[in-house]
Amino acid sequence: MRIGVLGTGMVGKAIATKLVEVGHEVRMGSRDAANEKAAEWAGSVGEGASQGTFAAAAAFGELVFNCTAGEASLDALELAGEEALRDKVLVDVSNSLDFSQGMPPSLGVCNTDSLGEQIQRRFPEARVVKTLNTVNNEVMVDPGLVAGDHDLFVCGDDEGAKAEVAALLESFGWSRERIIDLGGIRAARGTEGYVLLWLALLNSLGTAHLNIRVVR
Ligand SMILES: NC(=O)c1ccc[n+]([C@@H]2O[C@H](COP(=O)([O-])OP(=O)(O)OC[C@H]3O[C@@H](n4cnc5c(N)ncnc54)[C@H](OP(=O)(O)O)[C@@H]3O)[C@@H](O)[C@H]2O)c1
Repeated sequence: MRIGVLGTGMVGKAIATKLVEVGHEVRMGSRDAANEKAAEWAGSVGEGASQGTFAAAAAFGELVFNCTAGEASLDALELAGEEALRDKVLVDVSNSLDFSQGMPPSLGVCNTDSLGEQIQRRFPEARVVKTLNTVNNEVMVDPGLVAGDHDLFVCGDDEGAKAEVAALLESFGWSRERIIDLGGIRAARGTEGYVLLWLALLNSLGTAHLNIRVVR
């Protein structure tokens, strides 16, 4: 499958690398078609990897990942373009973190809204699925880094899109039984809000290789 990965940070790189590893063709998108980090990534991965603008990566992808800074995701997706996202599964892994008051960050959007919902509202014809935002980028693509069984969440308004994303997540190493479907995109309020607890756990445990297990 051809996949567009919007974002040149740690998350974009981890996801794009894994996607090529499992057999997809990936174009990494940035504000700048010649972005150095994207060039370095494409050069190191070789076959199956390419780079371009956000618009070029979104147009290339049959499915698109949003791995941009949460506070800038709507702007980045605007640059990707509504037409390029139309009818496509848009996997949103972003968190809206506001670092303006220093560390730890606060949530830029929360409680009665979420970034996932804002993206779905702004791009109503994209099929937004929120997932992976509750784990560190290395764990996203290698869940075995955390010992034992632990859970991942998906939410979104389009059932078919969630099924497609669950299959991709399986190829990343997540087992179906550990993927919890939280329902519509509104549930992103919860998974984005969880990041405050995740940051406290990171601080307390001293490792980003952590996750939670939901016990019934
Ligand atoms: N780090 C993690 O382990 C982790 C875990 C869970 C979720 N997340 C979430 O995943 C997302 C990516 O995180 P990250 O640490 O890899 O990267 P990041 O530094 O948060 O974001 C980098 C990307 O954001 C784009 N960007 C920044 N400002 C922009 C602007 N004003 N307009 C348009 N695009 C802009 C950059 O574009 P250019 O390429 O043009 O510079 C770059 O592609 C974030 O939302 C983060 O909260 C991260």
